[in-house]
Amino acid sequence: MPKTQPIADGITWVGICDPTLRDFHGFATPEGTSYNSYLVQGGLKTALIDSVNEQYVEEMLAKVSTLTPLYLIDYIIINHTEPDHGGGIRKLVEALPKAQILCTAGAEKAIAEFHGTDIKVRVVGADDSIDLGGKTLQFLPMPMVHWPDSMFTYVAESATLLCNDAFGQHIGGDVSRWADEYGIEPTLDALDLYYANILMPLGMPISRAIEKVVEKGWALDVIAPSHGLAWRGEHVATVLERYRKHLANEHGDSTVVIYSSAWHSTELIAEEIAKRIKASGHVVEMYDLGTTPWSIVTKAVMDAKGVIFGSPTLHNSMFYPMAGFLHYISVLKPATKVVAAFGSYGWSSGATKQMRASLEGMGFEMPCSDLQIKYRPLSSDASEIDNWVAEVMNAIY
Ligand code: FEO
Repeated sequence: MPKTQPIADGITWVGICDPTLRDFHGFATPEGTSYNSYLVQGGLKTALIDSVNEQYVEEMLAKVSTLTPLYLIDYIIINHTEPDHGGGIRKLVEALPKAQILCTAGAEKAIAEFHGTDIKVRVVGADDSIDLGGKTLQFLPMPMVHWPDSMFTYVAESATLLCNDAFGQHIGGDVSRWADEYGIEPTLDALDLYYANILMPLGMPISRAIEKVVEKGWALDVIAPSHGLAWRGEHVATVLERYRKHLANEHGDSTVVIYSSAWHSTELIAEEIAKRIKASGHVVEMYDLGTTPWSIVTKAVMDAKGVIFGSPTLHNSMFYPMAGFLHYISVLKPATKVVAAFGSYGWSSGATKQMRASLEGMGFEMPCSDLQIKYRPLSSDASEIDNWVAEVMNAIY
C-alpha cells in the first residue's frame, strides 16, 4: 500500500486504504474503500484537505508527519463532515494545534452538532481563497453533494479539483492512486456502483455542482476524490462524460430479472422468463436477492432498459428480501423505466399486488399485467409465460 503518493506539484495523497471493508453503511464494498486526504504544501503555508474515518486518524497523521511537522500545518479543510471524512475532527484539532479549520456554513453547523460547539471554524464560501505561497486554494460550497455541508476545494496552480464524494469509488486495495494505472474500465465500474448507491438521488445538486465548476472556468488536470482513485489527463474528460451519462439517464439496453425465492418456484419462473427474453434476441441479466448484494443489484437497475421483479407470496405479502430491496431502491430514486412484476403463490396471492404498488409509487411505468403462477411453473403454464414475456418485451423495447 502506498504510504503517500504525489498527485500534483505540491499535492500529496496521505489517505488510508481499507481493503477489508465489506459494508459501507449498507453498501457492499467488494474492493474495500479508501479515505483520501491530501496535503497541499505551498511556499509559505500547508493545508490538509479532508480527513479519514476516525479509527485511522493517527495512521493518516503519521503519513503526514513524514512530509511536514504536524505543528506547522496551518489549515484543515473540511470538505464534508460525514464520519468517513470528518468523524475524527476532534483528534485532528488536538494533533494540529496551529491549524485553523475552514469549511462551509453547513459544515460549521454539523461540526457543532456532531462534535460540540467548542471546536472553532472559519466559514468560507465561493468568493474565498487562501494563498499558501504559490498554491492557491479556492472553495465552492456544493450543498447535497453529498450532504448540505459539502464543498469542493480547487488548487489553482495545479489545476486539481479535490471534490470529496463526487467522482469517487470504493477501491481500497494496495494499488496506485491513479485510475489509469489501476485500469479505467474497472475504475469506471466501481464509480458506477458508488454513483448508483450513494449519489443517484442527488442528480440535481450534482448537475449544479458541475455547472458551478464550469462557470468558474477552472482548468482540470486532475480530479481527486476522497474515495478511491484519482483521474488525470485525458481521463478527466472520461469521468466527466460518465457523470454526464448518469445525469442524463443514458443507460444500457438490457432487461434485468430480479427475484427472491422461498422454495425455488419464483426462481424457476425467473429462469423461464430469462430463457424467453434471450430467445427474443435481447440481453438479459438475472439477480437473486438471496445471493447478490443489493448494491450490485441497484447498479443493474440503474443501467437497465427494463426490469422484471419476482417474489413469492408469503403470509399474503411479498417475500421480505424483495420488500427490503424495493425500499432500498425507493430512496435512491432510479430513473423511471418500464418494469413488470411476477411471482408464485399457493392458496392466496398478494406479492405482485404489493410489488406493483411499491414500483408504481416510485414512478416506474407498469403497462403490463402481473404474471402469477400457482405453486410452481408446469409445462401447462408455458404459453401463459410466452405471452406475458412477449407483452413485457414489447413494452420495454
Ligand atoms: Fe464519503 Fe458522504 O462521505
